[in-house]
Amino acid sequence: MNRRSFLKGAGVVTVVVAGGGVWRAFDQGVFRVGEGPAYEPWKDWHDANDGPLNLVRAAILAASPHNTQPWLFKVADSSIELHIDTRRNVGALDPYLREEHIGIGCALENLLLAAPASGYAATATLQPGKLEPIPADPKSRLLARVDLASGKRDETELYNAIPRRHTNRAPFDQHQPIPPDLLEALSHLTGDDADTKLFLFTAENDRKKIVDISSAANTEIYSDPDVQRGSERWVRMKWSSVQDHRDGLAIDAFGLPPIGSAAVKMMTPGMLRWASSHSTQNGYSNLMLSAPLIGFIAVRDRYDQEQCLRAGRIWQRAHLFATAHGLAARPCNEAVEMVDHERAHGRPASRAALLNEITGDSKWQPTFVFYMGYPTLSAHLSPRRPVQAVLV
Ligand SMILES: Cc1cc2nc3c(=O)[nH]c(=O)nc-3n(C[C@H](O)[C@H](O)[C@H](O)COP(=O)(O)O)c2cc1C
Repeated sequence: MNRRSFLKGAGVVTVVVAGGGVWRAFDQGVFRVGEGPAYEPWKDWHDANDGPLNLVRAAILAASPHNTQPWLFKVADSSIELHIDTRRNVGALDPYLREEHIGIGCALENLLLAAPASGYAATATLQPGKLEPIPADPKSRLLARVDLASGKRDETELYNAIPRRHTNRAPFDQHQPIPPDLLEALSHLTGDDADTKLFLFTAENDRKKIVDISSAANTEIYSDPDVQRGSERWVRMKWSSVQDHRDGLAIDAFGLPPIGSAAVKMMTPGMLRWASSHSTQNGYSNLMLSAPLIGFIAVRDRYDQEQCLRAGRIWQRAHLFATAHGLAARPCNEAVEMVDHERAHGRPASRAALLNEITGDSKWQPTFVFYMGYPTLSAHLSPRRPVQAVLV
């Protein structure tokens, strides 16, 4: 099952599933949501006496595309290096590793928020560079270095939100708008970073245009078998593979109500294929439209390495801010993924042009799309590899 079917998850719940049995329910973790080793990093994330490793504990709880967790950390007493593990990629869905770099930016943001909470003053230095196609012999590469000195201990609301931030794929409350003061605070989250900008859209007309572009992009990109292959590698349908791999997209992250998750977990692959192909039409568009806000994170150059990292920092910060204020959020990146796809196939940049029409300013290149609003269901934890597995 690829992300396209996954995105249609809300429709799957309408399918009545008979059979399976208690054994299959137990084997598939129906009664163990958020439990087991794969979820422990969310529980033991904070140990202020663990020195710089405490910062890594926070960093690994960051968002990453398809939960690939493409990070590696080299930890010393007064510095931490962040490397990208380019083997952990989603293939043709992200042909320049743009999204994986954004994921590293997300981890960097958590790490920098955790520094003062552990009594460190941190300074980050980003490696300059331009994104390239996925290398034939993928290996790890240094992307950022964080120098640590002793500093004033300070726990911010964003830091405290780290273990509560989860991507929410359930419908949002379409009748509850985001208060103007929160929108205003969100729009300033980029701070003094001159290379990133947040575009926020609340008007129904604008949101509908973005939803149409995203929905068409979703259909087109997942019709490419290479994209499907790259994506499927990270979809974990079995509870045992969630616990073994501790990464990827698990059923509990589909945004289904509990009964729906249980039903999907008990389906055989054949039943699941049938359910996906009979799920609600326009499911994804309706989900996106249930959110009162759609946002773009834009940069000056989508394929600039440092700017990708900065965009990731902004997404992580925005999602933590949302979490701290009772809001839910979800990325919806198919339109920008199609920008990469067209570039990789040497086709005219039609998606980039459509996104520029929405912002009305071609000097800014949208690199991340998300929606935000008040949740109707709480989101579940996603699996994580332990700190020991991501140290070099
Ligand atoms: C660069 C990037 C792109 C993403 N794109 C999507 C997306 O298009 N759709 C989606 O549902 N989630 C998307 N996500 C969310 C990830 O799937 C999510 O962060 C990951 O599964 C871990 O789950 P968590 O955020 O709940 O910890 C994206 C995340 C990142 C960092």
